Parts: sequence; C-alpha cells; structure tokens
Amino acid sequence: MDNRRSFIKKTFAASSLIGMGLTSSASPQEIIEKIGSIPKTKGQSVIGLRVDPIEQVRVGLIGLGMRGNGHVRLQDAVYPKAKVVAICDIREEMVTKALEALKETNKQKPDTYFGKEDSWRALVERDDLDLIVISTPWLLHAPMAKYAMLQGKHVAVEVPMALTVEETWDLVNTAEEMQKNCMMMENVCYGNEELWLLNMAQEGVFGELTYGEAAYNHDLSGYFMTNRYYENWRAKQHLIHDGNLYPTHGLGPVAQYMDILRGDSFQHIVSVSTKSAGMSLLAEELGADEFIGKEFKHGDMNNSLIRTFDGKTILVQHDVITPRPYSRKNVLAGTKAYHEGYPSRLSVKGMDSHRFLPDDKYDEMRSRYKHWIWKKMEEDLAKNPNFHGGMDYLMTYRLIDCLNNGWPVDQDVYDGAAWSIVTPLSEISIQLGNVPVQVPDFTRGGWKEKRKLPIQEFY
Ligand SMILES: NC(=O)c1ccc[n+]([C@@H]2O[C@H](COP(=O)([O-])OP(=O)(O)OC[C@H]3O[C@@H](n4cnc5c(N)ncnc54)[C@H](O)[C@@H]3O)[C@@H](O)[C@H]2O)c1
Repeated sequence: MDNRRSFIKKTFAASSLIGMGLTSSASPQEIIEKIGSIPKTKGQSVIGLRVDPIEQVRVGLIGLGMRGNGHVRLQDAVYPKAKVVAICDIREEMVTKALEALKETNKQKPDTYFGKEDSWRALVERDDLDLIVISTPWLLHAPMAKYAMLQGKHVAVEVPMALTVEETWDLVNTAEEMQKNCMMMENVCYGNEELWLLNMAQEGVFGELTYGEAAYNHDLSGYFMTNRYYENWRAKQHLIHDGNLYPTHGLGPVAQYMDILRGDSFQHIVSVSTKSAGMSLLAEELGADEFIGKEFKHGDMNNSLIRTFDGKTILVQHDVITPRPYSRKNVLAGTKAYHEGYPSRLSVKGMDSHRFLPDDKYDEMRSRYKHWIWKKMEEDLAKNPNFHGGMDYLMTYRLIDCLNNGWPVDQDVYDGAAWSIVTPLSEISIQLGNVPVQVPDFTRGGWKEKRKLPIQEFY
C-alpha cells in the first residue's frame, strides 16, 4: 500500500470521520468537501425561535456530578420561575447528594432516577417537563439532547454540545424539526469582563474587529486519572482524540464580540498540536494503572486558527496538562483598541496605545461600558450561588427568564454548533496534515443576516 493510502486508512480509523458516509479510499479533498456539504432538513430554521411563555419552567436534570450538582443549586436559586421536577444520575450517591443540596433551601423535592445507563430516558419521557439540563460526560451530550427534543422538551446542554460533525448536524436538524431550543450552556458568555467587551465591541470602541485569541489553558492534572470525573471519562478522551477538545469557553465570547452567525461566520480552520507528553508522565506519577504505558493521542498544546468570511482570524488554544496559570486569553483586536485578559488590560487608539490604560482610565471604561445585566443583578448575585464569579447564576437566570417571557434564548443551537465543531474539525485538520478544513454552514445561509444577540435586545 502506498504511503498516501495508508495515511488515509489511518485517518479513517479516527472517530471524527466515522459515520460520514465516506469510503476509506476517499482523498483528503473528498473528505473536506463532504464535511462542508449541507444535508437536507425536515424542519425550519430556529434562528430567533420564539416559543409561548412558560410561567414556571419545569426542569429535569441529567448528570449530577461536579457540574450537574451545581446546576441543581442554580435551578433551585431561580425557583419559583423554574421548578426542579426530576433529577437523574447513573449513580445513586450523586442523586442523594443533589437531594441534600436541595434540603439546604428546603424549597423542592424532585423525583429521582438512577441505577442504569438509560435510566435518564424515563425522565425525559415524562410529560410534565419543559426543559432538560444535561451535565453528563461529553459522549452522552448529543444522544441525550436529541432524544429530549424528540420527546418535545427544550434542552440546555453542557459544553461542548456534540463531538462529531454528524452529531452536530443531528442536533441542528432535530431542533429545526421539533422547533425546540437547544442551548449549549456557555457560561463564560455571561462573565463581567466578557459582557463589558461585548458592549464595547458593539458600541464601536474597537473600530473594525480584526483578530481574537481564545483559550482553555487550565492545568487539570489534579482531576485526571483519580476518578474525580466519573470513570475517568475525560482522561480517556485524551487517549483517543487529538485537536482542541474544549474550545467553547474561550471561543464563545470572542465569537459573540465578532457577530459570528449574525453577519459573519467561520469559514475554515487549521490546526496543529504538539506531541503528547504530560498525560503519560501524570499516569506514571499517580501510579494510575489504567493509563500507564498507554499512548495518548492528544498533544499537550493545540493551536487552531479560524478565519472568518469577513477576514477576521481567531487563535483557539487548548492545554490542560502543562503546569501553568489558568487563562482563556480573551484577546480582542480592532482598528481602534486592543484587549487582553489574565489580567484584563486595554489599550485605545489616541490614548498612548504603546501602553495599556492606567488604572483610573481603565476603571472609567469598565464603568462606562458595564453590561446592563451586571448592573441590574449586582444585589441578586450576592445572595445566590457564586460559581465562577457569578456568570453561572446569570446564565441560569437568563435562560429561565427568556423561557418565562417567550424570548429567543441567548445562544441558539447554531451558536453551540459553530463553537463545538472546532473539536472534530481540528482533529480532522491534524489527521490530514494540518490542512485547512471548511466549517459547515449549520445555519444554511442564515448567518448572513445582521441581527442582535437576544441579551442585547430582550430584557
Ligand atoms: N461550563 C462549565 O464551566 C463547566 C465546568 C465543569 C464541567 N462542565 C461540563 O459538564 C459536564 C460534566 O462534567 P463534570 O465535571 O460534572 O463531570 P462528572 O464526571 O463529575 O459528572 C458527570 C456525571 O454524569 C453521570 N453519568 C454518567 N453516565 C450517565 C448516564 N448514562 N446517565 C446519567 N448520568 C450519568 C456521572 O455519574 C457523573 O455524576 C461535561 O460536559 C463538562 O465539560 C462545564
């Protein structure tokens, strides 16, 4: 077998390409064209979807681990605008922990489901639920979200929304067919710094936007291989996948600054990873037999570059194993200003742009462009669960408020698709030799219309 065919064969063995209706003799060009092709839908676009107001949103939650337990508390905090009707985890002890959390406020006692891999189906099939909140391991997000929509429920799913191109189309098509919301819960879009930047970008402070940097650089070595994640699901993803496994925390806000899917869209992506080193070392250090001697596919640092139709570019990084301080980068550049996060600094044309603004000028900008929701909710935030500095509470508040009022949700299924698709496309780019890979147009052309984000319009 010549080198090219053996290369393509190896490429096919990787799961990002499985299930795309391609044969193993496909050329890289055929693979890329297939990725960019648009399947038929039985439904209609859900851009700007308005549903009848739901006075009290009846919520069922699946997955009650580190994150899901937090979601139970967050939903409890917005009671009676939402009611926790049912909860599910495969492990009974996680259900018990969630019930204990609810006892602290003593407002509600949901029905419980546990014990089997598919116990969640009975929860989703109930006819007294409006919204299903999914906080399970990544592999389960898309199947659970799809089934919930088919059962007539709105969905709020943790990040990333889906893992493959096919799964992503499936969620878009199901949302369109069922006319349901499928919101990926990108909490970072509700951060104080992020919404301040969004306001400034929209008010023209940055001039014409050209460039951004987004990252998930977070040393997770204290979490991996210790069963803190259920059955070490996250470390196992590093065994079988390369690319950017967790793009959305950094990318979601940057995409919103840049009006992605609201006048511009991602065109293609190129991705490069380093070799893998840190995970094998960690396995040795921890004596984690399950992982010792295994080959990890995932490179320690992944750099992916996205170019948009309008000519903006975004660097998206992923590194969860290097001993380094946390950073989502949060870089935004335009013709009139530049911002970088960690720590937050701003320079503005005409104000000595060789230096970042001094504290008094920076504070003045923070206060002048503070987002309405951070102004309005300041007191409320102090009384409620303070996960991730308040952004999680604001996300939950907004999601429920939108459903209470019949407004479009802030992040629609297309946003979740555009931000999550970086995972499989970065892997495919690497597998094909760091080539550019076209980003599928999940909106079927709908991105060309300029429109406001719901959080800037409905409140
Ligand atoms: N947005 C954020 O800031 C943020 C933070 C942490 C995690 N997350 C996301 O939340 C999700 C969960 O992560 P985590 O850290 O809580 O992991 P975790 O392992 O602590 O929790 C996952 C839970 O799912 C349960 N589960 C597994 N299979 C199940 C099944 N078949 N049916 C029902 N329950 C099942 C497990 O028992 C576990 O309790 C992931 O998608 C992760 O990316 C998001």
